[in-house]
Amino acid sequence: MQGMADLLLRNVRLATLAGGVRRGAAMNDLALRDGVDVRIVDGRIAEIGPEVSGDGEDCGGRLLTPGLIDVHTHLIFGGCRAGEFAHRCQGATYEQIAAAGGGIRSTLRQTAECDDLVAIGRKHLDWMLANGTTTLEAKSGYAMTSPGEIAILEAYRDLAEQGPQRIVPTLLGLHAVPVGMDREAWVAEVCDHLIPEVARRGLAKYVDAFVEQGYFTLDDARLLALAAGKAGLGMRLHVDQLTAGGGAELAVSLGASTADHLEQTGRAGIAALADSKTMPVLLPASVYALRKSKYPDARAMIDAGLPVVLATDFNPGSSPTPSLLFVMNLACVMMGMSPAEALSACTINAAASLGLDTGIGSIEVGKRADLVLWDADDPAQIAYWIGAPLVKRVWIGGSELRM
Ligand code: NIG
Ligand code: FE
Repeated sequence: MQGMADLLLRNVRLATLAGGVRRGAAMNDLALRDGVDVRIVDGRIAEIGPEVSGDGEDCGGRLLTPGLIDVHTHLIFGGCRAGEFAHRCQGATYEQIAAAGGGIRSTLRQTAECDDLVAIGRKHLDWMLANGTTTLEAKSGYAMTSPGEIAILEAYRDLAEQGPQRIVPTLLGLHAVPVGMDREAWVAEVCDHLIPEVARRGLAKYVDAFVEQGYFTLDDARLLALAAGKAGLGMRLHVDQLTAGGGAELAVSLGASTADHLEQTGRAGIAALADSKTMPVLLPASVYALRKSKYPDARAMIDAGLPVVLATDFNPGSSPTPSLLFVMNLACVMMGMSPAEALSACTINAAASLGLDTGIGSIEVGKRADLVLWDADDPAQIAYWIGAPLVKRVWIGGSELRM
């Protein structure tokens, strides 16, 4: 069957990431292959070898990797919070700003005023594409009314249909308590009405909650897990970000696919994760942007054999970056990860955390041709250069994107 134009990339240095999810020391193994050719047929990797026959483009030994996968983004929100940023630069804290009615609530107000959510999502997707992101998870969470949350998820459905990136939608129903409503009443609304409707309409794959003092409790997350389980949805959780709350253990006990943030997680939480299928998703850009100093203990997690994942946490408050390249740099400079560990965390491990690792996350025959060609020949350069436009070309499903 002939579909889209076939493609032959000659003379690339491949970081294949073949061989499945990487835990612990294996995160350093990029499964490199030098001086090979890659043939793409009908949007998939068809052949990899030293001398694939046919006409192709010489890539001059440049590095080819799987497209990057960002598993924690708040893709659609109204406006921005540059004003709060200016205050934080002068010493105000995220917590103080939230207590004064800013923070997430400010974005709830700005999102309520938006009439074109798809256009906002499109702009942010383009920013991500320029940074090599070909698949991403996208959370709702900036409406905190049932119709508003559904509207954000519908925008994700429309954007996914338009492409080019693949979008995995998450209902972040418990992000902030709606103004003028009891916490318990909102949790009940989400569990009894919103989750069943979202599941019935196929608008989300996961649910999520911000488990934190002043936001939602461990018991709220337990109720959410029950409702998600009944509706057949998976779970990802924001835990242990600002205060240590036993969040990693909670995520494990609820069978969540991921426990995200983990800045305050200590030994017990890491041990719980090591004994589970719950994957740790680290978001160092949110620590940096909030001017905090306590990063998640990535080294202890890797030493404990965990399959660490990195993501941007792209959002207007705590992490206004669409760039996994910046996140990889932070992971190395601030958390002591190696550049190879960082790349594993944003490709094959990220794919596994979304349950997509049989189709994407590595360059192997049969997988989808989601690829980035870098203006570099050494994989360490991806995390090393800061702010350089290293992404040279991007393909999604074998189609090259104009950037
Ligand atoms: O992941 N923690 C909750 N949500 C975001 C921040 C949201 C905001 O400040 O708007 C986060 O860091
Ligand atoms: Fe987040």
